[in-house]
Amino acid sequence: MANEENTLDTLLTEDRAFPPPPEFARAALVSDPGIYAAADADPEAFWAGWAGRLHWFKPWDRVLDWQPPFARWFGGGTLNAAYNCLDRHLDGPRRTKRALAWEGEPGDRREYTYEQLHAEVSRAASALKGMGVARGDRVAIYLPMVPEAAVAMLACARIGAAHSVVFGGFSAESLRDRIRDAQAKVLITADGGYRRGGVVALKRAADEALEEEGGCPGIEHVLVVRRHGPDGEVLGGARMKQGRDRWWHDCVAGAEAECPAEEMEAEDLLYILYTSGTTGKPKGIMHTTGGYMTQVLATTQLVFDLKDDDVYWCTADVGWVTGHSYIVYGPLAAGATVVMYEGAPDAPDRGRMWKIVEDYRVTIFYTAPTAIRAFMKWGVDWPAKHDLSSLRLLGTVGEPINPEAWIWYHKHIGHERCPIVDTWWQTETGAIMITPLPGVTETVPGSATRAFPGIRADILTLEGRRIEVGGGFLALRRPWPSMLRGIWGDEERFRETYWSKWAGKTVGEGDDAQPGESVYFPGDGAKRDERGNFWVIGRIDDVLNVAGHRIGTMEVESALVDHPAVAEAAVVGKAHELKGQAVAAFVTLKEGQEPTDALKKELSDHVVRKIGAIARPDDILFAGDLPKTRSGKIMRRLLKDIAEGRALGDTTTLADPGVVARLKGDYESREG
Ligand code: WTA
Repeated sequence: MANEENTLDTLLTEDRAFPPPPEFARAALVSDPGIYAAADADPEAFWAGWAGRLHWFKPWDRVLDWQPPFARWFGGGTLNAAYNCLDRHLDGPRRTKRALAWEGEPGDRREYTYEQLHAEVSRAASALKGMGVARGDRVAIYLPMVPEAAVAMLACARIGAAHSVVFGGFSAESLRDRIRDAQAKVLITADGGYRRGGVVALKRAADEALEEEGGCPGIEHVLVVRRHGPDGEVLGGARMKQGRDRWWHDCVAGAEAECPAEEMEAEDLLYILYTSGTTGKPKGIMHTTGGYMTQVLATTQLVFDLKDDDVYWCTADVGWVTGHSYIVYGPLAAGATVVMYEGAPDAPDRGRMWKIVEDYRVTIFYTAPTAIRAFMKWGVDWPAKHDLSSLRLLGTVGEPINPEAWIWYHKHIGHERCPIVDTWWQTETGAIMITPLPGVTETVPGSATRAFPGIRADILTLEGRRIEVGGGFLALRRPWPSMLRGIWGDEERFRETYWSKWAGKTVGEGDDAQPGESVYFPGDGAKRDERGNFWVIGRIDDVLNVAGHRIGTMEVESALVDHPAVAEAAVVGKAHELKGQAVAAFVTLKEGQEPTDALKKELSDHVVRKIGAIARPDDILFAGDLPKTRSGKIMRRLLKDIAEGRALGDTTTLADPGVVARLKGDYESREG
């Protein structure tokens, strides 16, 4: 924590503040700060107002039924998420408006109007029905960033099947675990996807997931998008399996274009999305329909100040929650023109993102601090080569943004004209929770500022006392519409992970707080300054944030000990200039194993095979022993001190203080 404290001190001395540019504020959807007080006074009325902008087949009876930790929003109401993203727009001028403007990494382009996207989604929905997918089933989606990813998600939503999107960078084994856990019936994948000039062989990985180590017996069909070869050849030696596999272009093109949207209950499952936690097993976060759609619509509209003529680009992958809420459901529900890009930011050169902004006249650009730090490193000449004058708002998400990166973004991308919205939220919250409203809120580099209207965020101590100014645990004290409804198949873990930290402890300080009320614990440490602004520091549990991706230390440790040469492993995050955090692993080998560089490489590849490339360790150190307490608990805090080259913290509780001193010596001599 020592270094986090230091960083935070620097952050807290940050006194540059940027009021909304007057011109921006004048035209903004919200320019009256009164929105906060109004939403606070009656949050249910605030959310009901936003829900009312959606299309409901049947209105709700009750806005909120809160039986902690279970919330039911808009109970009694029925709606369909895909209907709200598509059909709802077909009556007016949006029918022929561009819904999706897609660009592949090689430069190929495809565009869909709302009408065309509606037709494609309807056909895909019919095709899924034809494969036996019915309301209440689960469909796994393992695709590159192609339009079919959004189409597939919406097609599931249309027929009332829940999707489980698995990021295309995850390994076959990760895919298999997720398919099995969700008991998916159909898998939608592609032959491959382009990434930095190369091709990611998704179908091959999918086959491995389905056919090896017990496979996925629940999968009846695989729908395969042809992205790679025009010649029908499947990439990487993968085959189309007779009876099981079907090409998307055969199946979907010929499918019935009429497919009525299922009338879903507000609390029916919309999707499951897996995310890392403190154990080796990822959690299937559950999101339902009515509340989720309400909050993604409200936040898309207000946080991004989205208007009908905007061209909106979020650079996330649909495999993460940001892609779900802010590429697909939020912007399409709001009737936006969404830009989607398949590939890497430096392909074919480091100006690619800015070329896309210029070519599509992007007005709203939403990316991650890790990307901004890479842009910074590549230098100002790349963005300077392109016309970025269309931009009017910038956003960031995924990890704390360091003030230097914020200022660079402000100057070199926003040309000091565009407000920056630093948005804090998580897979579990479903939608943005802490953020500026760009026409109202004064922004401060590094701070996500304040809770969105209707949201109650606070800083609490371990004992549940409220801290007005200072550091502690971030807490959410009121249910919100897009909150997770549970962990798929594991209610106990849901209660334990998110709702037990302050169970029965909260003392009820602050506005409308009740003693003993149920409070949600997001797993982040944060501070609040004198101005009332929140500064999120980062995870305080065993979850790393590597380039904006959540990775559980336990997941990487399990992958390492799965290797026959490994006896024990401990994984920590170490500060990294570009990625924010990098994976550092301390490994003890079994008797008789040689600690060679070749073995290091093998272990590193093993982690990639088990989890995916995002989890590849930056450092592996072979250790004779790991520092443990007398009760045998590995002291990761000390390993983190070593990995980050700091003076060792308190070692008095160690069983053998010599172990850690030796390790530190080894680590430093290794670093040269
Ligand atoms: C971190 C991504 C600081 C935080 C939407 C959170 C942030 C985790 C911010 C969720 C931000 C996200 N400032 N930290 N603006 N946004 N985080 O589930 O630690 O992939 O708990 O959701 O990312 O990551 P997830």
